[in-house]
Amino acid sequence: MLKSHSCGELNKEHLGQTVALAGWVDRRRDHGGLIFIDLRDREGIVQVAFNPEVSKSCHRVANRLRSEYVVRVKGEVVKRPSGTENPRLPTGEVEVTAHEVEILNPSRTPPFYINEEIEVEENLRLRYRYLDLRRAGMRENIMLRHRVVKFIRDFLDAEGFIEIETPILIKSTPEGARDYLVPSRVQPGKFYALPQSPQQLKQLLMVAGMEKYYQIARCFRDEDTRADRQPEFTQLDLEMSFVEDEDILKLMERLFTALVTTIKPDAKIATPFPRFSYDDVMNRFGSDKPDLRFGLEIKDLSDIAAQSAFDIFTAAIAEEGKVKGVLVPGCASYSRKQLDDLNQLARSHGAGGLITIALGGAESGSLEKLTADMVHSVAAKFLTLEQVKAMAERLEASLGDLLLIIAGTARTVNEALGALRQEVGQRLKLADPNTLAFAYVKNFPLLRKNEETGRWEPEHHPFTRPWDEDEPLLEKTPEKMRGKHYDMVCNGFEIGGGSLRIHTAKLQRRVFRLLGYTDPQIDDRFGHMLEAFEYGAPPHGGIALGIDRLVMLLAGRETIREVIAFPKNQSAVDLTFNAPASVTEEQLAELHILLREEE
Ligand code: AMO
Repeated sequence: MLKSHSCGELNKEHLGQTVALAGWVDRRRDHGGLIFIDLRDREGIVQVAFNPEVSKSCHRVANRLRSEYVVRVKGEVVKRPSGTENPRLPTGEVEVTAHEVEILNPSRTPPFYINEEIEVEENLRLRYRYLDLRRAGMRENIMLRHRVVKFIRDFLDAEGFIEIETPILIKSTPEGARDYLVPSRVQPGKFYALPQSPQQLKQLLMVAGMEKYYQIARCFRDEDTRADRQPEFTQLDLEMSFVEDEDILKLMERLFTALVTTIKPDAKIATPFPRFSYDDVMNRFGSDKPDLRFGLEIKDLSDIAAQSAFDIFTAAIAEEGKVKGVLVPGCASYSRKQLDDLNQLARSHGAGGLITIALGGAESGSLEKLTADMVHSVAAKFLTLEQVKAMAERLEASLGDLLLIIAGTARTVNEALGALRQEVGQRLKLADPNTLAFAYVKNFPLLRKNEETGRWEPEHHPFTRPWDEDEPLLEKTPEKMRGKHYDMVCNGFEIGGGSLRIHTAKLQRRVFRLLGYTDPQIDDRFGHMLEAFEYGAPPHGGIALGIDRLVMLLAGRETIREVIAFPKNQSAVDLTFNAPASVTEEQLAELHILLREEE
């Protein structure tokens, strides 16, 4: 190799050794006689000194060096003069005195600083992603991702899983998003679909007797890009035969606990991971992916509100709705503008409005001291002091706190209060950034009605097994069916989902029929699955974890783009390659495609 050591590994133990280094000029400083460069490679940075008294020719070359030039240096590792050590660098006690230097390649001035963690406009970073990846933060994220995936592979190998690759050119395997299609040249007018997940393939591997499969699988979904969503992303996809749901959940819990304690030993993680029912998380946190790092649970105040003379409350309850609330600790003196913002947020989540009750102002202490003139709310004149106190007590409030209350249908109330709870948690910085609060959500409904089309849709995907005791309800009361589906959540994100699967053709066909498919459509799209189930399919189940989201949380980042080497931007464009791009007429003709004019 062109180098004997990496820059980042040098320390006092190397003193006196002659080393060869190769890397990029991170920074250059000219101190009159002496020139210093910080030489950077993947492992870190070391200072190289060019002293004209040691080598005039090296010093002349060093004069020409600029940021991001690629150089090779040979020299001796020496102790830095006392007082010039850099405690912030692992190599900070030593430097390399250059005896030879060679410019391997110069560099144009980069469009942004590589050596400083300053904010750079994201599209510019993505356009020059190969430069962005040279920056320390991004390099660490990519290396963290490597360690996470390697850990997962080793762990599952030791557990008896085998990694099997499945095709990318395949038929639609639906997960609720649009498919990416690939036209076939040899079969005119026909298309492959890129897998939204390897769902059907891993089930077929269970029919094939593989028993324990996993894959670090690329998935493709044509849906709007968001902070935690990309058109192509990576899952840890896993499937097992002859299991109950708890077998899978416990395996995942062991994997994640071992992963976090090894890869991020200073992070806090609570085990066992709590299990919640879907109804429970919706009622208590207003979200199916709650951030459990802080409390502020939503509390039902309907019984107290029903006794009040406040129309908004009593009308909602008369219509079988709910009145519920959350606490905002220490914020009784919020300004009108701050309250309006919260009101706006509640409305954007479907609430008709938000009732705020401030308990006093800047004072603190027990509720016993609360008097009627300390209650600030548009609802104050319709509520007795006892009613306000009862609500405050239920929300575990004290003087100086603010109560947020919403009346309406149970669903809207939960969702809007869930959004408020999340917002308050963020504003008051209640969530410890160093905690990973994993949990499972179970007992989802099997189906949900699409209000626009009036059709039943799977809550997860159509292969989820219903609860055995619910099976007879399938055609009668589909809304009452529960699925053997579970989600894994962490810090407000859904990081995984899975289920026990249907493994008989008969039940699978009944579910497809209920979803509105005709028998010919079922046979055309899913005939291969139904047929396979008739050849001794074992009971099976599995899960898929979003690797991008997991690494994002471990890296403490806010978007998955920060942990993907070459992500798409907000408009699903790869800015480095400028993809998607037009293709030639010849290519289209070969694929039997005629482009339509946009209307
Ligand atoms: P699901 O659709 O819930 O389940 O996906 C599993 C996990 O994949 C991640 N994920 C995404 N990450 C980034 N960008 C996206 N567009 C995206 N979509 C999903 C999430 C999610 O929890 N076949 C089933 C799994 C199974 O039943 O075994 C499936 O794919 O973290």
